[in-house]
Amino acid sequence: MPIISSFSLLLQFYMNIKMNFPKFSWILLSMFIIFNDVISSVVSSDIDCSLFDDIKIDTTTTSSHHQFSFFNQNLVKNTSFISAGFSSCTSSCVTSKSSILNLAKNIETVEWIKRLRRKIHEYPELAFEEYQTSKLIRNELDRIGISYQFPMANTGLKASIGTGGAPFVALRADMDALPIQEGVEWEHKSKVAGKMHACGHDAHVAMLLGAAKVLKSREHCLKGTVILLFQPAEEAGNGAKRMMEDGALEKVEAIFAAHVSHQHPTSVIGSRSGPLLAGCGFFRTVISRNQGHNADAMLAASAAVISLQNIVSREANPLDSQVVSVASFNGGNDLDRIAESVTLGGTFRAFSNTSFYRIRQRIEEVIIQQASVYRCSATVDFFEKEQPMYPPTVNDEGMYEHVRKVAIDVVGPNNFKEVPPMMGAEDFSFYSEVVPAAFFYIGIRNETLGSIHTGHSPYFMIDEDALPIGAAVHATIAERYLSEHE
Ligand SMILES: *[C@@H]1O[C@H](CO)[C@@H](O)[C@H](O)[C@H]1NC(C)=O
Ligand SMILES: *[C@@H]1O[C@H](CO)[C@@H](O)[C@H](O)[C@H]1NC(C)=O
Ligand SMILES: *[C@@H]1O[C@H](CO)[C@@H](O)[C@H](O)[C@H]1NC(C)=O
Ligand SMILES: [Zn+2]
Ligand SMILES: [Zn+2]
Repeated sequence: MPIISSFSLLLQFYMNIKMNFPKFSWILLSMFIIFNDVISSVVSSDIDCSLFDDIKIDTTTTSSHHQFSFFNQNLVKNTSFISAGFSSCTSSCVTSKSSILNLAKNIETVEWIKRLRRKIHEYPELAFEEYQTSKLIRNELDRIGISYQFPMANTGLKASIGTGGAPFVALRADMDALPIQEGVEWEHKSKVAGKMHACGHDAHVAMLLGAAKVLKSREHCLKGTVILLFQPAEEAGNGAKRMMEDGALEKVEAIFAAHVSHQHPTSVIGSRSGPLLAGCGFFRTVISRNQGHNADAMLAASAAVISLQNIVSREANPLDSQVVSVASFNGGNDLDRIAESVTLGGTFRAFSNTSFYRIRQRIEEVIIQQASVYRCSATVDFFEKEQPMYPPTVNDEGMYEHVRKVAIDVVGPNNFKEVPPMMGAEDFSFYSEVVPAAFFYIGIRNETLGSIHTGHSPYFMIDEDALPIGAAVHATIAERYLSEHE
């Protein structure tokens, strides 16, 4: 999508926010500044669901900052890895939180997790091309003695630890990097030009491997089976959807995943019940004159555009943020002939699941019926096969409560935060449509280290001290889920 239309989309989106949250109108100004800032790091992309990733809509009265950035996706390259060393550890079956935390904080384990993360960071791979990352994961699982199913969704895999029987609880990590040139100068800077783990998926993989090691050492304590999903293509394609088509959620009754966040200090855990991240979809329609009629497709399409605007401005609850934007309009070539057909399209976003699917349905109805008023006909394509359409990420109340309790146990009550919804999109939402799910953030912000930049920034970096905590939180979520659902 050309950057100018992204920009007007953003503008339109902000006008919507501004209308809903008038006191935040100042962010319109910062939007221009940040837009100029990030534009140099933006690589072209046709369709990008993460366009508004990290736009934080803070509805609390104590809001202090709002971030947003522009992201994209592209192609990959080949790399090679050296496997990390590994030393096993065992433990007794005490289910207290600190026993798991201590395991994850074992100095060898901590060094091992950091080493893995750095290796993955040095060799970022883009969506569906995570060959070496996947190989590294499999090598480590082999060393730990964990069996897995491979391949799934091309480069993904599904490992299991525990009794092999019910209940089954899943933890998910995404593996893909971004087409961004790393701007951070450090020892383990990306060695692949134009590619970078700028969203922290390297950390997600390392934390899940850390959890794998901890859980394996406590396998005798597990009252069921933990499924570990290493998923490709979160950024660019339907990685989660493809994993599910290949059986990722077979028998699974609950799923959890984490995302690193620069908005929270190191190891602070954040989440919320209900809608957490927006849904994002695209549509395109061809409006054509009916055979045998005098009709003007240009007029019909223009009427459709006007009516599409009314979906959000007149039908939607103003307190429930939504966007419908027509971003392209093409038809006719001659100045002296009525256009036979017009093609137009755009994007839509919403937080609540109901609103998201309602908007989708109304877009289709409005276009088809407006076309028919003008004796034209239309078909609407939502690109469900080829393009990512992310439903909203909605946390199940019970699963959120589980994460909250575990987090409070592991990191303490002062280090758990209830967070507002954000406009970013996550393909974890595909899992959350099928089984009860909870998505949570783990802070990586540390001013001393300079890990203060938003995801998808070339300056994005993490405080690696969050890694063992993340591993412990993952492991505890899974182990305790099984104990409580025996
Ligand atoms: C990656 O590189 C290795 C050797 O460097 C080569 O054997 C292999 O075919 C390459 N893989 C891909 C997918 O290009
Ligand atoms: C969202 O709505 C769709 C369509 O109505 C439904 O299939 C899906 O299960 C819903 N997801 C959640 C989390 O309620
Ligand atoms: C930030 O990093 C420094 C250096 O590693 C460390 O001493 C400090 O405790 C960290 N701060 C937080 C909030 O974690
Ligand atoms: Zn991302
Ligand atoms: Zn991400």
